[in-house]
Amino acid sequence: MPPKVDYSVYLVTDPTLAILGPGRTVVEVVAAAFGNKTTPSSSNELPHVGIVQLRDKDADARTMLATLAELHSYTGPAGSPLLVNDRVDVAVAAMSRGHCEGVHLGQDDIDVATARKMLGPDAIIGVTASTVDEAVTACRDGADYLGLGTVFATPTKTNTKHVVGTAGIQRMLQAMTAAGFGHVPTVCIGGVNASNARRVVFQSGFDGRDGQAAKALDGVAVVSAIMGVADPGEAAATLAEQVRLGKTQGPTGFYRALTTPFESYSTLSTPPTSSAIQRILQALHETTPLSHNMTNLVVQNIAANVALAVGASPIMSNSGTEAADLARLPGSALVINMGTSTPESLANYVKAIGAYNAAGRPVVFDPVGAGATAVRRAAVRTILAAGYLDVIKGNEGEIQTVYLSGLSEEEVAAEPAGLAQQRGVDGSNSLDTEARIRLVRRLAAREKCVVVLTGAVDYVSDSRGARVVAVEDGHPMLGQVTGTGCSLGTTISATVAAAATLRDSSDSEGIDTFTAVLAGMVLYERAAVRAATLPSVKGPGTFVPAFLDELSACRRAAAAGDMQWLESQK
Ligand SMILES: *[C@@H]1O[C@H](CO)[C@@H](O)[C@H](O)[C@H]1NC(C)=O
Ligand SMILES: *[C@@H]1O[C@H](CO)[C@@H](O)[C@H](O)[C@H]1NC(C)=O
Ligand SMILES: *[C@@H]1O[C@H](CO)[C@@H](O)[C@H](O)[C@H]1NC(C)=O
Repeated sequence: MPPKVDYSVYLVTDPTLAILGPGRTVVEVVAAAFGNKTTPSSSNELPHVGIVQLRDKDADARTMLATLAELHSYTGPAGSPLLVNDRVDVAVAAMSRGHCEGVHLGQDDIDVATARKMLGPDAIIGVTASTVDEAVTACRDGADYLGLGTVFATPTKTNTKHVVGTAGIQRMLQAMTAAGFGHVPTVCIGGVNASNARRVVFQSGFDGRDGQAAKALDGVAVVSAIMGVADPGEAAATLAEQVRLGKTQGPTGFYRALTTPFESYSTLSTPPTSSAIQRILQALHETTPLSHNMTNLVVQNIAANVALAVGASPIMSNSGTEAADLARLPGSALVINMGTSTPESLANYVKAIGAYNAAGRPVVFDPVGAGATAVRRAAVRTILAAGYLDVIKGNEGEIQTVYLSGLSEEEVAAEPAGLAQQRGVDGSNSLDTEARIRLVRRLAAREKCVVVLTGAVDYVSDSRGARVVAVEDGHPMLGQVTGTGCSLGTTISATVAAAATLRDSSDSEGIDTFTAVLAGMVLYERAAVRAATLPSVKGPGTFVPAFLDELSACRRAAAAGDMQWLESQK
């Protein structure tokens, strides 16, 4: 039996000058990652790098053997296995000298069974998998662990054919548990570093569904994030901590794991109590959260007025650089409204998502018109890869596009008709109720975030796809005014930011992103009904000011503990 391994931080070496930097050798960097120690640590402290793989596509066998001997003087005393990439022959020779513990195989290398015969039962044999079939086959063949990827496109590997994102990693984990290989450890690889490891580990995990057991990643494999930094030891320690947080606490400071047990697919859960909603609206009233919009210019006026009416402080900035400062302000939340996106605005969105994730503040993604063009679909993929989105909100066509943009070509083809259809910005309905509920649940479970599908009835799923609430309120008058969809996004960002300020208070029972989103929606939709049914409102022109008044009045009432406006709901 191979030894037990800590896969949390898996270091893959690379001798490329572009990564290593001038004047450094692979051995020096690996040594630094192990604190330059060649004797076992006297304390019980574990090394931050749990396993190392020597990857050097161009080296000859003799050079590799010499390097392995040097590397093993650091990995050996630390108890971290040292493997060789691709070369089973080198592994055999190095193992016979006690300088190596196994091999890592790509899909084009010698097969696992043959490698096992050559290396023996104690060798660690790992396999790279990029598809569900490759993952399950490697497990059947007896791989000791799998390297799943590529997560993100990276400069280290020029072959980006297999960029699968966290959604692709999650599918492979799901397939492994379905095939009975939940016990085989996995790491992901490709573009993972200290800034994304936490959310990648969290989002890639399969939470279990329909009787299938859950399966999470055991860790991350990195090249540049350790080989290419000034202090490899510190980088390894940071990565280990980020992986631990991803496994135990979720993607960002604000995220709060839900404890609700998983329910069956067709049930609609009961909405949260008006007491939780009241506390969130009161926090909104008291804290005046900053709603940071990155958006197009089409519908500015109403969204800004809505933000003010619900008690938020709107700020408009499309600069990614400025986002880092805004993200640090207490109570801030980011709304990304993809309406008219250019390559430049996309780069700014990516920067801003990174900044809000790093600050642990919420991000709301409103993929306006997502399905309309190939450029917009590509933009959705870029945004999904950029970081953790706390809430994704859109109409049916938009949510479908976001869902499909995380699937492989084959999976898109296998989706039931209707779900796979690419649709435009108009948002006309085509899915039946059951299909809509399935869509929000699947996207929520995959991205691990709250998903809102707007329509005549809105469906909101929690971040596990476990609870779905139908919000059947609002008024057709909302559809006769431009910008009301976008300003719902602004309202949601405000309630989510307000809920974030309650997170660490003693009053945080029952407060999470899901409840906060629902608080924003019921405030918005109830205010619309109340305004539209006033005798003084004759049409869209008189509706807007009355709507703003009602938003403000309902929010103030809630802050004073009066929730009658909500209870008057039909
Ligand atoms: C390891 O050695 C390198 C020089 O080779 C040095 O720069 C680094 O600070 C050392 N690290 C530790 C933790 O001692
Ligand atoms: C981390 O990786 C992501 C994706 O590969 C990249 O966009 C980002 O710049 C990296 N961050 C750092 C600090 O290297
Ligand atoms: C806020 O966001 C909306 C869209 O979500 C946008 O239309 C509006 O211009 C923004 N307002 C301000 C003041 O930033």
